[in-house]
Amino acid sequence: MPNLRKFYSRYLRRAAPTHFVLLGIVLALALFIYTPQAPNVDNSVSAVETSPDIELAKKVAKEIIAACPIVTDVKNLAAYDSCAQKLSQLKTLRDTMNAPFFWGAQSKVGNYNIKDSQTTEFDPFVWRRIYLATFMFKAELQIEQVNNLIVIHLPTQFRNQFDIGAYPYPFWHSSKKWNSYQQSTELLLFLEQGKLKGALRSAVVDPQRPKVNHAWDGKWVWTDAHGKQPYVTLYTRLFSPSNPHVAKVDAAYRAFEAKLRQNACVVCHSPDNASKQNPLLILSYPNQAISLRHETVRQIKEKRMPPPAGIFDDQERQQLIELAQTFAQAGDQALAYEGEKITSGKN
Ligand code: HEC
Repeated sequence: MPNLRKFYSRYLRRAAPTHFVLLGIVLALALFIYTPQAPNVDNSVSAVETSPDIELAKKVAKEIIAACPIVTDVKNLAAYDSCAQKLSQLKTLRDTMNAPFFWGAQSKVGNYNIKDSQTTEFDPFVWRRIYLATFMFKAELQIEQVNNLIVIHLPTQFRNQFDIGAYPYPFWHSSKKWNSYQQSTELLLFLEQGKLKGALRSAVVDPQRPKVNHAWDGKWVWTDAHGKQPYVTLYTRLFSPSNPHVAKVDAAYRAFEAKLRQNACVVCHSPDNASKQNPLLILSYPNQAISLRHETVRQIKEKRMPPPAGIFDDQERQQLIELAQTFAQAGDQALAYEGEKITSGKN
């Protein structure tokens, strides 16, 4: 059966630079006649048909666009921080994201089956605060329906001019990946039965977009004058400054991570994906390891990891289980403080 594709577009009003003076006057007037309806939304392009999922998709998209608008100075760190902060607290987005959440580059233009793309598995909070925030969003959106799947198209611009510690890991270890971040024209978010299952950087690229070149020196982590890098992988970035569980979860991860290294876990669970997992599960960074905090306990206990038969030595295995449990609990507490729903399911 051919795919049934329908499009719904929303273009949020944008001002040309020459209109700024006029805009100032209009804004001043608007302060007097302010009505609490959605700001700047031009509803002149109306939906042909609608459904609860389409309405939800629009709401999610508008929230994201409002939290992370395009700023002219791509190096604006304050805008990056503010976007990350807002995304982590967006109510509709939070309630709609599925755990786990999948993220990667679209394998082929028009292919909306996320399983056909190489993805990484995420805790929803980690993805929106750390990854989604690296993008800025144009005031436009398009909703596409393909059978029961709703695809949200968000035209984007990637923040590509920061120091290297501002990215979740050196994406430029693969030039293909780094180019996809820098030149993809859209993020595609996939919504099905009320849940956002994952997101992809579109295979459609704009080769005119200016690229920043970085050479990878072979290091996934490093330390500079400001401390451990990439700083965005640390819990001080992931959680609010007021979160009282940060020191505890960090200490728990560090103790656990030392053992993960000894048991070869990070050989496979690192960004270079030596064992070709799909989805890839990353344990080598504090933020990413949060996604697997419960599943690691189970995998070690049931002697499934590392393959083929787990940790042989009972005492060593028991020690790892305890470290994993302490980390899982501390992770739960830190996430709960941020308002996240905690499940001990797949993550
Ligand atoms: C030789 C590579 C390799 C090593 C070493 C390894 N893993 Fe894995 N791991 C995999 C692969 C491949 C998968 C996904 C496929 C699967 O489930 O078998 C996986 C899956 C997992 C999962 C998710 C399972 C699920 O079903 O969701 C967890 C958690 C995990 N590993 C933890 C660990 C831990 C902890 C260690 C170290 C004690 C470890 N792994 C060592 C390759 C590895």
